[in-house]
Amino acid sequence: MKNLVKRSIEIIKEGQASSGAYIASPNFQNYAYSWFRDGAFIAYSMDLYGENQSARHFHEWAASVISNNADVITRSVNTVEQSGKPSNTDYIHTRYSLDGQVADREWPNNQLDGIGTWLWALKAHKELSGIDLPGFLLDSAELAVQYLSALWQFPCSDCWEEFHDQVHTYTLAAIQAGIKAFSDLSGSDHQSVIDAIQKTIIDQCVINSHFTKRLGSEDVDANLISLAVPYGVVGIEHPQMMATIKKIEEDLTGTKGLHRYAGDSYYGGGEWILLSAWLGWYWSERGNKTRARELLVWIESQADDKGYLPEQTSDHLNKPEYYKIWVERWGEIANPLLWSHAKYLILQNSIMTA
Ligand code: BGC
Repeated sequence: MKNLVKRSIEIIKEGQASSGAYIASPNFQNYAYSWFRDGAFIAYSMDLYGENQSARHFHEWAASVISNNADVITRSVNTVEQSGKPSNTDYIHTRYSLDGQVADREWPNNQLDGIGTWLWALKAHKELSGIDLPGFLLDSAELAVQYLSALWQFPCSDCWEEFHDQVHTYTLAAIQAGIKAFSDLSGSDHQSVIDAIQKTIIDQCVINSHFTKRLGSEDVDANLISLAVPYGVVGIEHPQMMATIKKIEEDLTGTKGLHRYAGDSYYGGGEWILLSAWLGWYWSERGNKTRARELLVWIESQADDKGYLPEQTSDHLNKPEYYKIWVERWGEIANPLLWSHAKYLILQNSIMTA
């Protein structure tokens, strides 16, 4: 594909509904919804390429989902205050239909990271577009911060929609980045919760000098790259961050791309485009453009003749016996995945500008 940047922007635009929601994947039934997490990164990528109206439209959709669920947030925050435990029924879902309704299928819907990432992307939207945020966006953002501040220390499913009874380092980082972003946008003070999350990550999510996938685990997950880029929990050259990158590269590299984590069996546990781009983004920001370009070239080689980037590739599987099981259950690997295209755009932009 000659111009994968142009093609990626087209694919993202084609996948944006009139409501502003971005579909996760147009060709995969279970992904015919909009996720806060995917959407936030997609909106960020669009802002980087001057497609600010598209990004704004997504942010408006996300803000309306939050404000339509204001009563859920109030009940959820009250439950924590009164019982010291989160509610099993009142929570913001991870994905909604394109018109902003709760999706009716069973899903591990209780995930906090996407809401944090949304707030992070909202701040970036203001900075990159240079346009002020209207009051209703900030009102929804404030509700989201109330929700995250009440719930951050409790278990929820991770960004791979697994391990619902654990506390995940990536999730903590995304929540912290979101609350920090809102503090900057609104000038309101949330330092005590920001500090508490920092302390949890530093004191409880490090083993053998590297960050860990979740509290109480020794493993890494490729999503830990986010602690430096873009969430900034620690600096790019923080010793524990550099040790984490080294371990991610050692433990999770396949042919060239990254697996999510060592035991992953979803579609056999292949190499994820968006994570390989994430690693490239990290190296680009750290100044190693050669390594960043290497990953970019590998990603480009995975695009098909329509210029589609899939969710994952199946040349190097953690657990090959699971590939067929998933294909029979849910169909072929999601392709295109808009989040893969977004991460490709972000990497390309970083190589050109950082
Ligand atoms: C991934 C999520 C993602 C969703 C939609 C899932 O398989 O684990 O991270 O948000 O697909 O793309």
